[in-house]
Amino acid sequence: MSMPSYATTWRLRRAGLSDVDGFHALAVKPLVYRYLFDGAAPDREYVAARVTQSAGRSRESGLGMWVLDGLSAGCVGCAELRPYPLADAAEVTYLLDPSHWGQGLAARMVWTVIARAFHASRIDTVVAGADVANAASLALMRRLGMRFHREVRYPLGAGFEYVLRRRDSCPMPALAPLPID
Ligand SMILES: CC(C)(COP(=O)(O)OP(=O)(O)OC[C@H]1O[C@@H](n2cnc3c(N)ncnc32)[C@H](O)[C@@H]1OP(=O)(O)O)[C@@H](O)C(=O)NCCC(=O)NCCS
Repeated sequence: MSMPSYATTWRLRRAGLSDVDGFHALAVKPLVYRYLFDGAAPDREYVAARVTQSAGRSRESGLGMWVLDGLSAGCVGCAELRPYPLADAAEVTYLLDPSHWGQGLAARMVWTVIARAFHASRIDTVVAGADVANAASLALMRRLGMRFHREVRYPLGAGFEYVLRRRDSCPMPALAPLPID
């Protein structure tokens, strides 16, 4: 029996209410919440409300939350596109189980969600933000080809926003998208 290839091992699917516990289990890992959720482990109610809100968004809007599944592991990561106060813009947030960091998987996950939105919705601008100390997140933004947008102030301190526009979206080197529904 041949092993499944890396390319077919992972897939992104829209988050549903059955993902609340899986998402919560990820979100309460200190390495994950350190720069997210204002630096504190979120409670289950907060996660449930966020998943419920995302699950209610229409496909046509391009907004929503996608869960990264592996063949033997459910919910190892998550990428979300949320409303951003600019016409035809969205904010992207993302997290990945630390046991999968450093394999380029987060970059492919986030790129897949953004590329889908650029291709299949009105969204033409995606913004991402990170605390200045969140080197991994800032590196991921640059890997996607995002450009510095502005300095911002978060509850944990100073941060940066980066932006990617449909017309100049082209990660170099190219990133292979993951299967997505
Ligand atoms: C941000 C996060 C998803 C990145 O995951 P990852 O598995 O390290 O990302 P990737 O392997 O896809 O790496 C993407 C790029 O960032 C670089 N990178 C990753 N971690 C880095 C670090 N700590 N320092 C410098 N560069 C880093 C990689 O080298 C890669 O660039 P390259 O292709 O040019 O080599 C992960 O650290 C995470 O889940 N953090 C907690 C949640 C969070 O902070 N989310 C962001 C807030 S919205």
